[in-house]
Amino acid sequence: MSGTIVIGTQWGDEGKGKYIDILAENADVIVRFSGGNNAGHTIVHNGEKFALHLLPSGILRRNTTCVIANGVVVDPAVLLMELDRLASRHVEPATLVISDRAHVIMPWHRELDVLQEKSRGANGLGTTKRGIGPAYSDKAERSGIRMCDLMEPDTFRSRVLAALEIKNPIIEKVYGGKPIAAEEVIAEYLGYAERIRPMVKDVHALIHEALEAGKKVLFEGAQATFLDIDFGTYPYVTSSNPIAGGVCTGAGVGPRQIGEVLGVLKAYTSRVGEGPFPTELRNAIGDTIRELGHEYGTTTGRPRRCGWLDAAMLRYASRVNGLTGLCMNHLDTIGKLPEIKLCTGYTLDGDPISHYPASLKVLARCVPVFETFSSWSDVDISATRRFEDLPEAARAYVTRIEEVVGVPVRYLGVGAEREQTILR
Ligand code: GDP
Ligand code: IMO
Ligand code: MG
Repeated sequence: MSGTIVIGTQWGDEGKGKYIDILAENADVIVRFSGGNNAGHTIVHNGEKFALHLLPSGILRRNTTCVIANGVVVDPAVLLMELDRLASRHVEPATLVISDRAHVIMPWHRELDVLQEKSRGANGLGTTKRGIGPAYSDKAERSGIRMCDLMEPDTFRSRVLAALEIKNPIIEKVYGGKPIAAEEVIAEYLGYAERIRPMVKDVHALIHEALEAGKKVLFEGAQATFLDIDFGTYPYVTSSNPIAGGVCTGAGVGPRQIGEVLGVLKAYTSRVGEGPFPTELRNAIGDTIRELGHEYGTTTGRPRRCGWLDAAMLRYASRVNGLTGLCMNHLDTIGKLPEIKLCTGYTLDGDPISHYPASLKVLARCVPVFETFSSWSDVDISATRRFEDLPEAARAYVTRIEEVVGVPVRYLGVGAEREQTILR
């Protein structure tokens, strides 16, 4: 079978979009299987930057079919805005199809995301406020609205009226917000429905026919392992399963239909939003990484927290996802520091710990163990295209990461452009 999964191994923003764009050159179908427009995937081609939130990162490759599968939560306004933006930049996008089983993000989801964050006060999660958590909550609660419902005006109307009977009292009485007018929502969304209708299909058949025909199918992860609702640093996570297993439920394929599972990472670690971060550098080095790596959120513009690469996280990510290869970005960025540290594991009360703790209190007591590496700040590697041509110090850093994580590094990023990639 020819399915390849590309997922994040850290807290997101590892450069997944870049690899999907690269691999899409030789792929037939690109599938987003989880999350929504909380994602921000950057593609840089010929100096032009594209930030995609909901559209799969194969959208710039006309040879592909891009799929938004059932596991994604879709904000129709964002979907149309992204398509319009590409059109205004004269991009002829790939064919796009959307699962009729995907859930729709409604205005009350966005409103509740904002109100819930506000009510958490100092304990806020730092969500993207795109309505992601409330949309997945409704899906699990079985009160959600799916794409197939949006396509049937009568069904849609009755689902909106039923939802607002519950949501408006919550918005008003629990959170002190303003009620949402049903008729306005219905008119707005039925307008979107007419534009979206030609794209809405049973995509399950399309994915399976491609896999059965031996075509290359890429599953594009959004978010990352440590933002996973089951395996991440709960509750500082997103509300879906962005790990490799999420492909099975989020796109309706079995594990045997997957060949490669590529884990994307940066040569350091970043996190946007709240939550634990054992190797965080709350100092001048962290600030330098942020500036050198342009670490500001693609979706919300927030400064990203930065720290050393954490191989304890990567080993856990390797197991949780069954990684077959690593794609490591920002080797150019990390090499500009005077020296580099790699966290090879944690100790807990003085002893090495072999698992990743579930309890945030225990995690807070974990102490990272570091190895120090020379950097290569005197050499610009952004034009290097072969591993053998990298400075010895860069090769030593990469080789040690492979050793500690136990997964081979297949791709190395030495810049944001499509071409600035080393294939091993
Ligand atoms: P994603 O959400 O995983 O797709 O990642 P983002 O697009 O949010 O963040 C990755 C950022 O790093 C983007 O600004 C990319 O253009 C940039 N980037 C990716 N790979 C490299 C690399 O190897 N070197 C440098 N300097 N920038 C990179
Ligand atoms: P990509 O695909 C980085 C973070 C948010 C917040 C938490 C919950 O670009 O890697 P949510 O809005 O999902 O309920 O927010 O998850 N988050 C991301 N951080 N990259 C992302 O996506 C993220 N998507 C969500 O900052 O901490
Ligand atoms: Mg991102």
